[in-house]
Amino acid sequence: MGIKNNSSFIFSIFFLLFFSFINHLSHGADTISANQSLSGNQTITSAGGNFELGFYKPGNSSFYYISMWYAKVSTLTIVWVANRDNPISDKYSSVLKILDGNLVILNESQTLIWSTNQNSTTSNSVVAVLGDDGNLILRDGSNSYQPIWQSFDHPAHTWLPGGKIAYNKLTNTHQRLTSWKNSEDPSTGLYSLNLDANNSPYVIFWNGSKQYWTSGPWNGQIFSLVPEMTANYIFNYSYQDNENESYFTYSMYNPSIISRLIMDISGQVQQLTWLESTKQWNLFCALPRQQCEVYDFCGQYGICNNIIQPFCNCLAGFNPKSLNDWNLSDYSGGCVRRTELLCGNITAANQEKDRFWEISNTRLPEFPQSVAVGSAAECESSCLNNCSCTAYAYDSNGCSIWIGELMNLQDGSGNTLYLRLAASEFPKPKSKKGIIICVTWTRHFGAKYPCRHDTTRHDTGAGVGSVSDSSILYRTRLTAKEMKEVRARDYLVE
Ligand SMILES: *[C@@H]1O[C@H](CO)[C@@H](O)[C@H](O)[C@H]1NC(C)=O
Ligand SMILES: *[C@@H]1O[C@H](CO)[C@@H](O)[C@H](O)[C@H]1NC(C)=O
Ligand SMILES: *[C@@H]1O[C@H](CO)[C@@H](O)[C@H](O)[C@H]1NC(C)=O
Ligand SMILES: *[C@@H]1O[C@H](CO)[C@@H](O)[C@H](O)[C@H]1NC(C)=O
Ligand SMILES: *[C@@H]1O[C@H](CO)[C@@H](O)[C@H](O)[C@H]1NC(C)=O
Ligand SMILES: *[C@@H]1O[C@H](CO)[C@@H](O)[C@H](O)[C@H]1NC(C)=O
Ligand SMILES: *[C@@H]1O[C@H](CO)[C@@H](O)[C@H](O)[C@H]1NC(C)=O
Ligand SMILES: *[C@@H]1O[C@H](CO)[C@@H](O)[C@H](O)[C@H]1NC(C)=O
Ligand SMILES: *[C@@H]1O[C@H](CO)[C@@H](O)[C@H](O)[C@H]1NC(C)=O
Ligand SMILES: *[C@@H]1O[C@H](CO)[C@@H](O)[C@H](O)[C@H]1NC(C)=O
Ligand SMILES: *[C@@H]1O[C@H](CO)[C@@H](O)[C@H](O)[C@H]1NC(C)=O
Repeated sequence: MGIKNNSSFIFSIFFLLFFSFINHLSHGADTISANQSLSGNQTITSAGGNFELGFYKPGNSSFYYISMWYAKVSTLTIVWVANRDNPISDKYSSVLKILDGNLVILNESQTLIWSTNQNSTTSNSVVAVLGDDGNLILRDGSNSYQPIWQSFDHPAHTWLPGGKIAYNKLTNTHQRLTSWKNSEDPSTGLYSLNLDANNSPYVIFWNGSKQYWTSGPWNGQIFSLVPEMTANYIFNYSYQDNENESYFTYSMYNPSIISRLIMDISGQVQQLTWLESTKQWNLFCALPRQQCEVYDFCGQYGICNNIIQPFCNCLAGFNPKSLNDWNLSDYSGGCVRRTELLCGNITAANQEKDRFWEISNTRLPEFPQSVAVGSAAECESSCLNNCSCTAYAYDSNGCSIWIGELMNLQDGSGNTLYLRLAASEFPKPKSKKGIIICVTWTRHFGAKYPCRHDTTRHDTGAGVGSVSDSSILYRTRLTAKEMKEVRARDYLVE
């Protein structure tokens, strides 16, 4: 789509150039120099035709971003975004240009919204050149050796061969790869890959604070926790450490292979390789290997499973907070309660008290608080009597209660949680149909959802993003495609 538009534009620009009455960029060029600007459908292309740069609007988004993509890959694939947190809405009246020795983006009202921000000379000889390796370099035309700035030092979510993810010892700063917010929004997302200062392993953080994955230390050949790296004839990884910085870089043993490493919106780092025969990106490796190892992937009151897509569901009695975000594979907003709790509501005083729904075989949420009581019944009432208490668990460790939102739940991890819900969320007694549904449901889903006596309500029930409940309810085993997905996520597909 985008590529086609751009090439047809390049075509028409040739005519314009022929008559040479524009002050804009010469197309097919790989360079932006002083007194030139790029806007609208204009692009620059690297000398060997590998990469292209211009304004790009992802999916149904209404915003444009100065982006770089593969020019030779038929599926439009973005590798770098300049103004990821400052989009523009009209590409025809916005420009990318050299201004006072920097590469800048001016928006519709000619306000500066992005800049390479260097104290360079204000010389007119500064140029920006798009390289065939996907590195956009700003340099002084009269001194081409030392770049003033380069996009490889400011990656977005993609680490290309030849680039690096470094830790700068002098400034104590990290270059990091940061995921997009969702599949149509390149703004800074929750997940980031960093090179740790100590012992040089790579780590992935959730929201810049919570570490949920590490590569383990580098032993000279591989990272200790990434055995996939052994017997690897595709990627030439190397580690550099000097007084200024430490970093990894990689190259392809066979430079004609197109490959990229991304910090994906799934919270996984993925190495993908382009297969021209199938015209698809092939997943080589995804880390962490299991989706549910990604911290809080399903957001508050969400529950993660490693097997069936979507990997996130809402807990019983909850619906996705933003179905739109869920559709774009961003589950981090989690779920919201369907029926308000009674607790603390004086005007509803004569209604039935809140109750607890049993969720078996789950990983318990983050941040439990321990309560010194001697029985399950006392544990239950200590939760019921505190309006901020949303769940409890009673097991060999005694009584735990949760105050506030529940985070980081996962299916199939052996524990039992009692979730506080409004009484109306529970089935009324004596309906045979309801009981049958409950049995089926429980067998497949560990009683994650309360069973309903009334099937209509059941269908709008557990708030599963884009899959209707009934499709889950009657599914007894995984389809072949799902099995493949599970295996692919498990790791290595060649
Ligand atoms: C830019 O590309 C779009 C999509 O192909 C096209 O509709 C539009 O007319 C082009 N604009 C110009 C000024 O060529
Ligand atoms: C850019 O424009 C300024 C003024 O319009 C002019 O003085 C200068 O020579 C131009 N530079 C180049 C490289 O064309
Ligand atoms: C964009 O919107 C159209 C119509 O609203 C819809 O059919 C299409 O699936 C959407 N595309 C994406 C990627 O969400
Ligand atoms: C341009 O950016 C400035 C600063 O962010 C903003 O105040 C202004 O509204 C933007 N102009 C348009 C037309 O969006
Ligand atoms: C630019 O110059 C200012 C003042 O001389 C200095 O404080 C700042 O650190 C410099 N920035 C860079 C990126 O060199
Ligand atoms: C991420 O951290 C910031 C503060 O650093 C906080 O304001 C924000 O709510 C956090 N995001 C989530 C999803 O928790
Ligand atoms: C692997 O990378 C290192 C460091 O970049 C380089 O010196 C070496 O020549 C590369 N090996 C091959 C076989 O490409
Ligand atoms: C470290 O930085 C200093 C100052 O910028 C530079 O002179 C030196 O060559 C750098 N060392 C290496 C190994 O790059
Ligand atoms: C989400 O996707 C489903 C199915 O693709 C669609 O029916 C629904 O309208 C979408 N919702 C939003 C808010 O985009
Ligand atoms: C309290 O209960 C009443 C009646 O059920 C309901 O209309 C009201 O919204 C509730 N208030 C709160 C704060 O939940
Ligand atoms: C609920 O429990 C929390 C944590 O133990 C405590 O801080 C809070 O004061 C309690 N609230 C009430 C109303 O007891």
